[in-house]
Amino acid sequence: MANILKRTHMCGTLNLANVQEEVILNGWIQKRRNLGGLIFCDLRDKTGLVQIVFDDTIPKELFERADKLRSEFVVGIKGIVKERQSKNKELPTGEIEIFANDLLIYAESETPPIYVKDDDKVSEDLRLKYRYLDLRKLKMQQNLTFRHKITKIARDFFDADGFTEVETPILINSTPEGARDYVVPSRVNPGKFYALPQSPQLFKQLLMVSGTDRYFQIAKCFRDEDLRADRQPEFTQIDLEMSFVDANDVMATQERFMKKLFKELMNMELKTPFPRLTYDEAMTRFGSDKPDTRFGFELKSLNETVKNCEFQVFKNALAFGGDVRGINIDGYSDRFSRKDLDKLQDAAKTYGAKGIAWIRVGESEHTSSIGKFFTSEQMAEIIRVFEGKPNDLILIVADKPSIVFDTLGFLRREIAGRLDLLNDKLYNFLWVVDFPMYEYNEELKRYQAMHHPFTSPKTEDIPLMDVEPAKVKAEAYDIIMNGVELGGGSIRIHDRNLQAKIFEILGLSEEEANNKFGFLLEAFKYGVPPHGGLAYGLDRLVMLLTGSQSIREVMAFPKNQAAQCLLCDAPSVIAQEQLDELAIATVDLPEKQADDTDIK
Ligand code: AMO
Repeated sequence: MANILKRTHMCGTLNLANVQEEVILNGWIQKRRNLGGLIFCDLRDKTGLVQIVFDDTIPKELFERADKLRSEFVVGIKGIVKERQSKNKELPTGEIEIFANDLLIYAESETPPIYVKDDDKVSEDLRLKYRYLDLRKLKMQQNLTFRHKITKIARDFFDADGFTEVETPILINSTPEGARDYVVPSRVNPGKFYALPQSPQLFKQLLMVSGTDRYFQIAKCFRDEDLRADRQPEFTQIDLEMSFVDANDVMATQERFMKKLFKELMNMELKTPFPRLTYDEAMTRFGSDKPDTRFGFELKSLNETVKNCEFQVFKNALAFGGDVRGINIDGYSDRFSRKDLDKLQDAAKTYGAKGIAWIRVGESEHTSSIGKFFTSEQMAEIIRVFEGKPNDLILIVADKPSIVFDTLGFLRREIAGRLDLLNDKLYNFLWVVDFPMYEYNEELKRYQAMHHPFTSPKTEDIPLMDVEPAKVKAEAYDIIMNGVELGGGSIRIHDRNLQAKIFEILGLSEEEANNKFGFLLEAFKYGVPPHGGLAYGLDRLVMLLTGSQSIREVMAFPKNQAAQCLLCDAPSVIAQEQLDELAIATVDLPEKQADDTDIK
């Protein structure tokens, strides 16, 4: 049997209450200092660090063994807890230390390629390549534990509410969440492919048809889309569906769930119900369907004020059905140099805006990029719309409504960030409801479902479906916190004819609809309850609650920005035999692409 010093305590849990106890600890050596007659080590496990002392009262052989210790050696240590002479206020265990009387070295370690400390400055790619070392950091272990606690609370909460956790398959046919699918070739069905689920959407609806009544799952989802700080190709949802409910029931259940999470994990009382904003209101006030309400700078329309002006840019925008809107960065004009404004202009261009007009409000004189096009009365009128006062900075965009909203929405967030207004102690929840049912895809020249094609239109809007699809609102809701979409869901269509009609409006022929979703339409023939649900992005939830900057910080083994796993080197080229077995022929890739997959 392996010789193990059996642990009595975890390192980070020891304190003055343990003084005089003999304890056995297991873990990794953080660092070791030899001060002649004394050797100090910091020992680490996932709960924290504790100081170990080897002094000259111990046998010489033990002292010499301790002298061999280096960073990341794995050890078992027995010793007596003593109060420290010079206390370390920085460390939770800083009031005590362990005087060792036994030491077992389980494994030695080479000098690690990255430091195991929270504030190292090493590149993220290196951290991802040596993720097992990176995960030794206390902060990373805390993130993993926090994530575990969220899923545990979710399981307990939904269990108590009558939900059944059901696993749904990973090898499926394409699901319609709007991203590209990851596909997997089938050896036994040559030339055919499975898709990995973008979400369990269709299966959870089928579970409602099957009478499961309330379903939930901590579900892996896969989407081949461009990555951002809050997106991964492989991510996890807390996914749920309920029968015989309306939108209010689903939202009220989520509010109770969030309340419980915040109480148990953050010791905070969330105020419910959360505010609800319609999609239209969210866009017109914040320029975003996921507004961050921790700060102001709300959008104001200038359409009325400037409708008779002579300034071509505004005139043209209005003439072509566009908008002129702006935000007031009130009280901060002096924080933006001319150069800063130029930089904002450049950034705004990535949102399609041709430029930003600005006004610096003064006591009586104002400076403005568009001053020469307006009389002082007109200028005063514009400033009045924004309730402008000295040292305010008004930023105006004129363009197609979607560009105006996107640009101003971006400017609000960007500027609040620069001005340090993103208070991370605030958790501002809200629901965005009444989303448009469809959005028009200019490229494809047809309507697409804004949420997904199984979302129910609002009953009162059903008559508009044929005549004015753009005006139809959906029974969909997103849960937003601090400007991040934590989750989204909807009440589903449970009428087979209505579902077929929606497919038709989305430009799917009967044949296409049958090919793709025939099994759902078929199931709907045999008695389908009214149902609806929602899915949270678990990774985003953990990211926000741990104050992390990226979801990669709260996933054990994430992909990098190029969708690669640097640890196991995926994706990779596979052997010709494997390809042959799968009946797959590959083409030679251009040099560059082949190299790209090798980036470390
Ligand atoms: P939706 O597509 O809105 O809805 O996804 C739900 C939530 O999942 C998270 N999310 C992601 N997180 C990390 N990386 C990604 N690439 C990613 N994509 C989405 C977001 C999002 O709010 N089936 C529906 C839900 C339903 O209607 O019940 C769905 O998947 O937090």
